[in-house]
Amino acid sequence: MLVRIPEALSAEEVAHCRAVLERAAWVDGKVTAGAQSRQAKRNLQIPQTSEASRTLGEIILTRLGSHERFTSAALPLRVYPPLFNRYDEGMDFGTHIDNAIRPVPGIGVRVRTDLSATLFLTAPEDYDGGELVIEDTYGEQRVKFAAGDMVLYPATSRHRVEPVTRGSRWSSFFWIQSMVRDDPARALLFDLDGTIQSLRAQYGESEEAVRLTGIYHNLLRRWAEV
Ligand code: NI
Repeated sequence: MLVRIPEALSAEEVAHCRAVLERAAWVDGKVTAGAQSRQAKRNLQIPQTSEASRTLGEIILTRLGSHERFTSAALPLRVYPPLFNRYDEGMDFGTHIDNAIRPVPGIGVRVRTDLSATLFLTAPEDYDGGELVIEDTYGEQRVKFAAGDMVLYPATSRHRVEPVTRGSRWSSFFWIQSMVRDDPARALLFDLDGTIQSLRAQYGESEEAVRLTGIYHNLLRRWAEV
């Protein structure tokens, strides 16, 4: 399941992130790559332990903590502290799969990467190329969203970032360990939750809506690991 999260950050928050990143020290992106992806990765990142990474990451996590669509789609148990990257002209990231387990530096906690997230921090008209291409059951999905929008996709997917041919593409990227590990089960819960929400919005509270809400929670109880 590929899910768009519109306005994960507001325009003001995107501008703030960009202003902080303008002043940040960028390093080679190979620092967080595994053995295979290291060969394929040509981009820049800001160090995970930097003040900029920590403060901007907190802004993103705070916003997502109260974001209904994100919560419904990801059912997050643990979220890896957001990282930040950029692809300048000529940079790309060839086809790869993200590492399954990510230790969070300094706190002895590991995150199983069920979902990958990319939050776009550059307006699409400001660069050419740089599409995130995700291979899923239905073929290739080419993703290039508005600044502030985010894409969530199964971390089991092969994916790549096309070469940037003009401008520079900035984004935040991170991973989520979900309470529901199985992508089809999570997709079903997301669909059910959305259907219940629109049923309520159209017809108000009803006995059926209450029963469906109960079914949602009983499925979650069966499938969730917390
Ligand atoms: Ni990746």
